[in-house]
Amino acid sequence: MIQGNSRVRNLVQSLRTASSFPFKLANNRGYTSQPVPSLQKASQPSARREDEYADVDWDQLGFGLTPTDYMYIMRCSKDEDFKGGRLNRYANIEISPSACVLNYGQGLYEGTKANRTEDGRILLFRPDQNATRMKLGAERMLMSSPSIQQFVDAVKQTVFANKRWIPPPGKGSLYVRPLLLGTGAILGLAPAPEYTFIVYASPVRNYFKEGTAPLNLYIEEEFVRASPGGAGGVKTITNYAPVLKAIARAKERGFSDVLYLDAVDRKYLEEVSSCNIFIVKGNHISTPATNGTILEGVTRKSILEIARGQGYQVEERAIPVDDLVDADEVFCTGTAVGVAPVGSITRRDRRIEFKTEGSLVSKELYSTLVGLQTGRIEDKKGWMVEIH
Ligand SMILES: Cc1ncc(COP(=O)(O)O)c(C=O)c1O
Repeated sequence: MIQGNSRVRNLVQSLRTASSFPFKLANNRGYTSQPVPSLQKASQPSARREDEYADVDWDQLGFGLTPTDYMYIMRCSKDEDFKGGRLNRYANIEISPSACVLNYGQGLYEGTKANRTEDGRILLFRPDQNATRMKLGAERMLMSSPSIQQFVDAVKQTVFANKRWIPPPGKGSLYVRPLLLGTGAILGLAPAPEYTFIVYASPVRNYFKEGTAPLNLYIEEEFVRASPGGAGGVKTITNYAPVLKAIARAKERGFSDVLYLDAVDRKYLEEVSSCNIFIVKGNHISTPATNGTILEGVTRKSILEIARGQGYQVEERAIPVDDLVDADEVFCTGTAVGVAPVGSITRRDRRIEFKTEGSLVSKELYSTLVGLQTGRIEDKKGWMVEIH
């Protein structure tokens, strides 16, 4: 699908790895002394040339990894602030076998997107929210974390350096993946002595193979995603491998994803494997209240605000699974999934269906969200960050 575009590739170059770096880039061939693209250059007309696209079949884009040119790396040791972040060529990394993240899972990830507008601008959606969430997560996981400013700046640099991988308007987004890892070596269970912050990116389109078709969710009876006192509300990497089995089982049965219930009563809706859930009844929109077991999605928060602004009665509450019977519509929200309508939810042998045709609340809300994200709707909330 992707071929090297040597003309553009030759324009962008990587830097040598700093000798003090905790791990080496495993594939550091081809370094030259030419600088990596800088943000300042974005305002020059030549930086916005429409023909500067990577050689990608944009119509075939799904939600898979398409490696891009650069990643951002910054490190610090415990009790120090992060500093000296820089762009490097995207490559494998070398890491100690006794790194805390490999042995004890001391790691956090984030996800945000950059979009190209019709008039050639590059927009990020609320990256400060992801930065704040990472900071809070780092506190919970006893990790050092970059400042909000450092996080946002790193995301901007990564997007700009990889701008030829941002899909054309309407063809997808550049998904940006910040990682915070306890890379320092340690044997006993304790926080890592060193931390590494990495940002990489990949062009993506629809998350689910269903595309924009309604999702069919399966309520998981055996496995729970998070329990009170745990770290379900934090985007730690350790929350994700345990749900793989539940997702695989649901997919084998023909479902799109899993809807988890609370761990204590197995009665209240929590969230889906990688997105939050909303139910609609008339003019009322509800989503499970966050109580430490549900991830506070940036999309969830934004949709709550958009819905309020559009006159809906919006509520964050404990939602008993039985409320699904009366729901008109159900939808999921997330950076990767956007706002996805749910066509059905199945628990044991009972399948409940929801409205997916005609005028949908989820469609109306998504249209506003995407309008803001792609610059089609004027941003009066100060959510969008333009890269220039
Ligand atoms: C478990 C979980 N819930 C919800 C979300 C949605 O969060 P956001 O809207 O910030 O992408 C995600 C996505 O990252 C997630 O992993």
